[in-house]
Amino acid sequence: MQPTMHIMSFLLFTILLLPSLCLSKPIHPNHCFQDDQNALLKIKYHWNNSTLFSTWIPGSDCCRWSGVLCKKLPKTTTYRVNFLEVNFGNDIVGTIPSTISDLPYLETLIIRGNPNLTGSIPPSITKLTNLQALLLNFNSLTGPIPNFFSKLPNLVNLELNDNHLTGSIPSVFGQLPNLNALDFSNNQLTGSIPANLGFLPKFSFLQLSNNKLSGPIPRSLGNLNFEILELGGNQFTGDASFLFGVNKTNLAHLNLSSNHLSFDLSNVVLPVDILTSNLLVLDLSHNMIYGRIPAWLGQVPGLYSLDLSYNQLCGPIPTAGGKLQGFNPSSFEHNKCLCGAPLSAC
Ligand SMILES: *[C@@H]1O[C@H](CO)[C@@H](O)[C@H](O)[C@H]1NC(C)=O
Ligand SMILES: *[C@@H]1O[C@H](CO)[C@@H](O)[C@H](O)[C@H]1NC(C)=O
Ligand SMILES: *[C@@H]1O[C@H](CO)[C@@H](O)[C@H](O)[C@H]1NC(C)=O
Ligand SMILES: *[C@@H]1O[C@H](CO)[C@@H](O)[C@H](O)[C@H]1NC(C)=O
Ligand SMILES: *[C@@H]1O[C@H](CO)[C@@H](O)[C@H](O)[C@H]1NC(C)=O
Repeated sequence: MQPTMHIMSFLLFTILLLPSLCLSKPIHPNHCFQDDQNALLKIKYHWNNSTLFSTWIPGSDCCRWSGVLCKKLPKTTTYRVNFLEVNFGNDIVGTIPSTISDLPYLETLIIRGNPNLTGSIPPSITKLTNLQALLLNFNSLTGPIPNFFSKLPNLVNLELNDNHLTGSIPSVFGQLPNLNALDFSNNQLTGSIPANLGFLPKFSFLQLSNNKLSGPIPRSLGNLNFEILELGGNQFTGDASFLFGVNKTNLAHLNLSSNHLSFDLSNVVLPVDILTSNLLVLDLSHNMIYGRIPAWLGQVPGLYSLDLSYNQLCGPIPTAGGKLQGFNPSSFEHNKCLCGAPLSAC
């Protein structure tokens, strides 16, 4: 830039911007709705003014407090809190306050990674009928997964993983038409998977790893086009071959490891044009799966993690596509009679 240009732009700045600065209008108008501020402050006081809430100062714009977002209601000038995130606070001690229900416009509620957060999921959450995402994971919550989730018809994503939840999975989730994802991994859940999950039109992520779930996997789950299905570390029994199939075009992660599953792997299929398969991770280890490894498995383009170890598989490891020879022998160890590279020759 020429020096004259500098002067020009300085003059322009002065002429155009200085008057507006001098009028001392706030650059960010305060959008905070009084009731929302009161509700948020109750939460702050409930958690003994944890350092997480140092920006939550009464009178300042609560829409700019850390972990808080507001949304303008359609056809009004009113902003309401629609997003709240309370993450990674060791000094968040005690329970989830029931006053959380005083934020009725919440669409996303995240209370995550607070190891000293205990107690059960409060029933007042059912008043948050606009909730789409509820993430209460990586805390120390106890008690059951409540059946009052049926009162949250807009729920899309529910993550309660990595807590100390007990009891069975209620069948109410089959009543939530928009449900897309459930993660209940790493709890102490018992009982079986509700079969009605298989009739949810948008349901494509189910993570239940490392619980004490048992029984057969409901056949209805074969209706769905899962992206991620993780059921490892439970006590599921019987067939799971219906989780494969020509229509499973979205399947990226399938983990059935460490169960008591028993089915013939020889004839399971994925999309006929195997190059269109999105499979990245397949872990079937530590079950009682028998038969041969299907030839298509070596041709899945993106497969980078494979574990078939500790099963009853037999026969040559397929060489079509060549991918299987690139995996570590441990992916195939402890089967009945698998042979060929990367194991020893047949
Ligand atoms: C939290 O802050 C409020 C307002 O300053 C105060 O009244 C209350 O006593 C504080 N609570 C604790 C536990 O420090
Ligand atoms: C909260 O949890 C952390 C880690 O689990 C622990 O070290 C800390 O003492 C706990 N804090 C309180 C106030 O109990
Ligand atoms: C919160 O603060 C009050 C008053 O200072 C205290 O009695 C109480 O034990 C604290 N609660 C927690 C969970 O730290
Ligand atoms: C599959 O799930 C089991 C049990 O949760 C876990 O140990 C294993 O690491 C998972 N496999 C992959 C490839 O993530
Ligand atoms: C795959 O989906 C098509 C179209 O939705 C359907 O007609 C067909 O029966 C399905 N095939 C299988 C094996 O599920």
